[in-house]
Amino acid sequence: MNEKSVEIPSLWSVYQNHFPIGAAVNDISIRSDKELLVKHFNSLTSENDMKPVSLQPVEGVFTFEKADKMFAFADKNNMKVRGHTLIWHNQTPDWFFEDERGAQVSKEKLLSRMESHISTVVKRYKGRIYSWDVVNEAISDDENEFLRKSKWFEILGEDFIAKAFEFAHKADPEASLFYNDYNECHPEKLEKIYRLVKSLVDKGVPIHGVGLQAHWNLFKPTIEDIRIALERYASLGLQIQITEMDVSVFDWEDRRTDLKEPTEQMLEMQEQRYEEFFDLLKEYRDVITSVTFWGVSDKYTWLSDFPVPGRKNWPFVFDDNHEVKNSFWKIVNQK
Ligand code: GLA
Repeated sequence: MNEKSVEIPSLWSVYQNHFPIGAAVNDISIRSDKELLVKHFNSLTSENDMKPVSLQPVEGVFTFEKADKMFAFADKNNMKVRGHTLIWHNQTPDWFFEDERGAQVSKEKLLSRMESHISTVVKRYKGRIYSWDVVNEAISDDENEFLRKSKWFEILGEDFIAKAFEFAHKADPEASLFYNDYNECHPEKLEKIYRLVKSLVDKGVPIHGVGLQAHWNLFKPTIEDIRIALERYASLGLQIQITEMDVSVFDWEDRRTDLKEPTEQMLEMQEQRYEEFFDLLKEYRDVITSVTFWGVSDKYTWLSDFPVPGRKNWPFVFDDNHEVKNSFWKIVNQK
């Protein structure tokens, strides 16, 4: 098919009866990818600019400029915004956990800093964010451990998670509140996420959804694993959102660095994967309330620096030149 001669449909319009289609953006991409964003996406997430280190680098000094710019762009183009993220072990400044002498802060102090951060940020964007990732990646990857040994957990205990949701709900009772994590379809991690979220639901904590990051690749997870995960999370009676989707052309163990272009075989596999992913997501449209890609086009992706620094990757449905890839056609051509 000669793509230039056919009209390219808008991705979000194709999916408008299913779920919003989102992209993670930064202050460069809202300019460089403006056309793609406006045409194909109706939801935005800030890639980094709403993380604690960006919004409150120094205690009491809030820096909202970049986030505000994204909101202005979203408002101008009728896009919704997902908030990412309030409480995380990464990209959170040390001052949260230390007193003026650098010693570990008390439980009371940390809780009051948590409340102040959440309440200031959530209230500022109240009514403008449909879903918040309240807690990100609290589960441990170690098979002998349930929760990750973060500073939040060390100082506040398991209760830090419930507290974060309570503070966020108090600040914006209308926003839907999510627990977000990766390797979410891996059988053991899935059970831990399920157990955590179920315990929150059982305690009456205001949590409304599970965020599946969906940093997937050509080989894993299998469609069957994703289906099992969707069923399990859906059984909690909460919403599900796909929050950070990308499809790496490399298997996790593959540390090759010699490729200048993706091979034909990689692109074909990627097309097939995208088609299968979206067919499956569409089946679950009653519970899936948003699908966000962790970027826009192959020109820029965090995967070009992770897990192998400087190794280019091509994880999206738009290529390095902002043109649609065959994988794009696979997800817009409805069966
Ligand atoms: C995690 C976080 C995201 C982002 C990615 C890497 O998935 O949730 O905010 O930092 O890692 O880009």
